[in-house]
Amino acid sequence: MIDSKTKLIGVIGKPIEHSMSPPMHNAAFLKNSLNYVYLAFGVEDLGGAIKSMLALNIRGYNVTIPYKTEVIAYLDQIEPVAKKIGAVNTIVNENNILKGYNTDYIGAIEALEEKIKIKDKKAIVLGAGGASRAICFGLLNKGAEVLILNRSVEKGMLLAGELNQHWKSKASSMSINEATVQLIKGYDILVNTIPVGMYPKTDQTPFKKDFLAKNLLVMDIIYNPIQTQFLKDAKNTGCRIISGLEMFVNQGAASFELFTGKKPPKDIMKKTVKDLLR
Ligand code: ATR
Repeated sequence: MIDSKTKLIGVIGKPIEHSMSPPMHNAAFLKNSLNYVYLAFGVEDLGGAIKSMLALNIRGYNVTIPYKTEVIAYLDQIEPVAKKIGAVNTIVNENNILKGYNTDYIGAIEALEEKIKIKDKKAIVLGAGGASRAICFGLLNKGAEVLILNRSVEKGMLLAGELNQHWKSKASSMSINEATVQLIKGYDILVNTIPVGMYPKTDQTPFKKDFLAKNLLVMDIIYNPIQTQFLKDAKNTGCRIISGLEMFVNQGAASFELFTGKKPPKDIMKKTVKDLLR
């Protein structure tokens, strides 16, 4: 029951109406009998939203598009990896000290590591935006080599250059249009971060089907639909696939643990999102 001791968690972003985080977290609180409630806030005034955490003693926020980078300036402490990535998706209010974390990269890496040992593997990441950045960081951190394939060559090179400041010669980039079947064959992991194939344009794909090779472990970060055209193509090619749902649930589970200090009930979190997407 919601009462005067209920702790408040929220997700802030713009737009926010389609966020799956409130049902996912509320189902988890219910399952673990925790006196928390999770709401979605469509935020125009980011500074105001952060200050409210202190004024109203809000326990935590998830942060989503477009605020993951901008929010850093408002926080007291940033976990070192989140700082390097330059993006925060989780804020915890510890006795009025606001601490920022990034569970997106943890979610992606955990999903991959359930299927493969990342160390010394060769990975391709499609796209060079914020999501790609977090995933490249996670992959390199685990000892993989990373090739970024992007539409804008410049943006890909910029990201690879920055990654190489931390992991010399382990990151490279090229135009997605210059990739070849032969090149792709030499890789173990393929992750899509390009927002193509997302509901409602579910027949689109960011990558040529002919380029897929069956030795690849293929992950899409899109979770609506659960199986994108990209993943369908990969499955038909004989690849092992990982849906964006896994990453989404993993990031939520890691945030849940930061908010509550309790082990997340991942099964119920996943089932809740899956049922909603059906
Ligand atoms: P996020 O920050 O959430 O990862 P983003 O920055 O909007 O998302 O986009 C991620 C990547 O998808 C970008 O690198 C973008 O390529 P550009 O750098 O060339 O803009 C890529 N992308 C977006 N829409 C695309 C499309 N229709 N075709 C190919 N690439 C696309």
